[in-house]
Amino acid sequence: MSNKIKTIGVLTSGGDAPGMNAAIRAVVRAGIDKGIIVKGIQKGYNGLLNGDIIDLTSRSVSDTIQRGGTILYTARCKEFMTLEGQQKGADMCRKNGIEGLVVIGGDGSFMGAKKLYEQGINTIGVPGTIDLDIACTDYTIGFDTAVNTAMEAIDKIRDTSTSHERCSIIEVMGRNAGYIALWCGISNGAEDVLLPEIDNISEEQLIQNIIENRKKGKKHHLIVNAEGIGKSEELAKKIEAATGVETRATILGHMQRGGSPTAVDRMHASMMGAYAVDLLADGQSNRVVAYKDGKYVDFDIMEALSMKKTLDQFQLNVCKILSK
Ligand code: ADP
Ligand code: F6P
Repeated sequence: MSNKIKTIGVLTSGGDAPGMNAAIRAVVRAGIDKGIIVKGIQKGYNGLLNGDIIDLTSRSVSDTIQRGGTILYTARCKEFMTLEGQQKGADMCRKNGIEGLVVIGGDGSFMGAKKLYEQGINTIGVPGTIDLDIACTDYTIGFDTAVNTAMEAIDKIRDTSTSHERCSIIEVMGRNAGYIALWCGISNGAEDVLLPEIDNISEEQLIQNIIENRKKGKKHHLIVNAEGIGKSEELAKKIEAATGVETRATILGHMQRGGSPTAVDRMHASMMGAYAVDLLADGQSNRVVAYKDGKYVDFDIMEALSMKKTLDQFQLNVCKILSK
């Protein structure tokens, strides 16, 4: 009897990210191309436990590559953090004939995939998060779209900030990571960027920078603040009181997670989704797909989760030099 994998599942978990649909589409169509039946699990691990499982055909993913969000919905699931939950999840896979599962999400979702693997289900992780905070990979699906959305919003804020000669603090997402903030800092030409990974610029220093920039003739002062630092409103009040420069804080929030994915996101999502199916068809399990040094590769989940990622020192230096 052939031991070829016959049925796989795909789910999205954690925060949604633009390009997740392109990844789902790639899993479905690459699977079907290999004669594999593909099932969609709705609402992440929650849906797995509740049996929210649907059959997916090539047509189910028509007209989705350009859509933001995830057609499979997503969720965070506390029950899946327990051994009972993980056993129930594996049983649900077996009940539905699912021999292999592609999990599109972040580090937390990969931890869940590892637990399912320990319960006998083949699992492959695909990195999907706007935060770019997965250490084993140079790219995570959703980052490019999110950073472009944030950049465009900050450009708009710059128009009004310059017109009123104000200081503007713009808080961007990223959880504990500063990638969106750093990229916006450079792309928007911000005067200051506050990042959770590095020693923060003190409030005194920020105030000094604003005063000096005014003397140099700058008409606005843009501060990109990472969510991991937060407290933007509080900071705005302090700056205004200390400098006399009108200061406004804007928290961009969830708009950064939505919208039609860029070509970069559609490409990586398509390639990574297809790569994940290749791994499952090849009998591999407990792996994470990654994009490293210009190539698609894969790592053992635990090895991937134990890796550390730091902000690029050259980018940090350039950000500082160009803000003057
Ligand atoms: P992300 O995948 O974006 O990092 P979360 O950290 O919120 O998002 O994780 C998504 C889901 O993955 C959690 O709600 C939970 O169901 C599952 N998960 C996270 N950590 C674990 C763990 N240690 N064991 C089992 N499941 C986990
Ligand atoms: O991980 C993606 C992300 O958008 C983070 O940048 C942010 O910290 C978090 O999710 C917000 O989560 P929620 O949608 O549950 O508010």
